[in-house]
Amino acid sequence: MTQPDLSVRIGKLYLENPVLVASGTFGYGSEYGHFVDISLLGGIVTKTLTPEPWPGNPPPRAAETAAGMLNSIGLQNVGVEAFIREKMPYLRTLDTAIIVNVGGGPLEEFVYVTERLADCEGIDALEINMSCPNVSGGLDFSTDPRRAAQLIGTLRRVTSLPIIAKLTPNITDITEIATHVEEAGADAISAINTIRGMAIDISTRRPKLGAIMGGLSGPAIKPVAIAAVYQVAKRVRIPVIGIGGISSAEDALEFMIAGATAVQIGTANFVEPRTGATVVDGLAAWCTASDVPAIREVIGRMELPS
Ligand code: SIN
Repeated sequence: MTQPDLSVRIGKLYLENPVLVASGTFGYGSEYGHFVDISLLGGIVTKTLTPEPWPGNPPPRAAETAAGMLNSIGLQNVGVEAFIREKMPYLRTLDTAIIVNVGGGPLEEFVYVTERLADCEGIDALEINMSCPNVSGGLDFSTDPRRAAQLIGTLRRVTSLPIIAKLTPNITDITEIATHVEEAGADAISAINTIRGMAIDISTRRPKLGAIMGGLSGPAIKPVAIAAVYQVAKRVRIPVIGIGGISSAEDALEFMIAGATAVQIGTANFVEPRTGATVVDGLAAWCTASDVPAIREVIGRMELPS
């Protein structure tokens, strides 16, 4: 039996397989290099970069919930210059796609980081974090269609790298933002970022997070994420990358049948850093057992109830 073809394309970005690891759950790659054979993954998405090093929010910044976790990290990162100098040399040694997540406060900060990365050797695509619920104004660009288009349109003019717009579910109609970023020049959409949430320690009556509210991720949000992927994939022509509670090949397949071209493993990395590689193996096994020669054949192939 020949091996199934797991390759997919995100615009001009070729992936050996559709399994990526999500921004903020895999550091800058080197933190996981001792535990995981990173070349088994389709790609890695690095932690959001801002122009300057950023300390993030006050602790505590994570709290476990039923079937998930809350985080309020607040975009802690080394800053774009240290990333280029200290993190890219390691990332260039990896035999997998390198997707760098870009963030900022005002639009000018997104532009600055994108410009600094535009000619940096070894980067395959940029994912734009326009949907962080943990910083002031972090959701502004993905809850206002006009600002969403302005951000992506501006970045489109400063880089020829593929642009992936990461959208928030904290909005009434995610498809409106999706169509605007597509028209503005995005090559793909990542859906979804975390859902705003909060938890309280009843013994102290204090919020469990230093920032009071945070973003919910993990299996608890999987059905919300699949619905978002399904809705967005029906509305846009560009590929959709599904994120939200994926920890098995079966989870990944649900997202792909709903319309995702690729998926990202996030919270599951904190439980088992090798989850991504296990999902890749599981997808290959499923294709073989189901007589599916190429994984891309399942993308968007949901059967509707009669
Ligand atoms: C964070 O750093 O606060 C998490 C990133 C995000 O939710 O976009």
